[in-house]
Amino acid sequence: MSKIIIHGGFFSESSTNIKTKIAKQNALLRIIKDSYEYLRTHNALQTVIYAVTLLEDDELFNAGIGSQIQSDGKIRMSAALMDGSSLKMSGVINIEEVKNPIQVAEVLMNEEDRIVGGSGATKYARKHGFKQFSTEIPQRKAEFEAKLKATRIGTVGCVALDAEGKIAVATSTGGKGFEIPGRISDSATVAGNYANEFCGVSLTGVGEDIVSGAVATKIVTRVTDGFSLQEAFEKTFSELKPFDGFAGAIAIDKDGTIFHQDSHPTMVFASFDGEKEEVFS
Ligand code: GLY
Repeated sequence: MSKIIIHGGFFSESSTNIKTKIAKQNALLRIIKDSYEYLRTHNALQTVIYAVTLLEDDELFNAGIGSQIQSDGKIRMSAALMDGSSLKMSGVINIEEVKNPIQVAEVLMNEEDRIVGGSGATKYARKHGFKQFSTEIPQRKAEFEAKLKATRIGTVGCVALDAEGKIAVATSTGGKGFEIPGRISDSATVAGNYANEFCGVSLTGVGEDIVSGAVATKIVTRVTDGFSLQEAFEKTFSELKPFDGFAGAIAIDKDGTIFHQDSHPTMVFASFDGEKEEVFS
């Protein structure tokens, strides 16, 4: 009963620009089917790395290639990986000029020090063979120069449940755009990326709101304590309301239930269980 769900960020452009919407739907359907095939012969942890790598490589999404540019003109990316079985999380925060931040997080899984930030993360990546690679694309540069703020709140993520019932989650982001250099995204924190043996959750949206709502941690804890996935989402999202928190989440529980919810229109997501596919509309 392998299951997989991915998200490709969160921005309102998808509801108004039909060409972008169709391109994102097609990209997500291609990536979810490809990743599901991969999951047939790989475990959940290997699969979430594979899926997020494909999402990072697609410039439609704000992670890896196509990442947002910060207020000083540089791109700094964050990504994290969590294995729900071993409860090990690894990640990079504000890494620069690598093609696939999630793959650096993968290498960090083998370290004692598993979450590394800033220049330390970039140096670590170089030491482990990740070549210098600019993830800037002309469209992001043009938006930055036109000072188009907050047009693409986004992140990518994947939750997978494998045939052995193991859950893993991966999340990767180019951030908010125009942020203060050094700002921390939620994606490499337990608010934005968390899993255990009961459930895995990946977030997109405004990092500050996701951290304030401790969203992924709360959903996973509630499911662990006996809530259904839907009840855990409803309670946790209701707690974002007092501060109008902007977030979207995807999840899978140990029984194979797939769930997603957003607090504002429109989270960009797709899921597949081998028979039934669902894509955002
Ligand atoms: N969720 C991505 C960020 O706020 O940086």
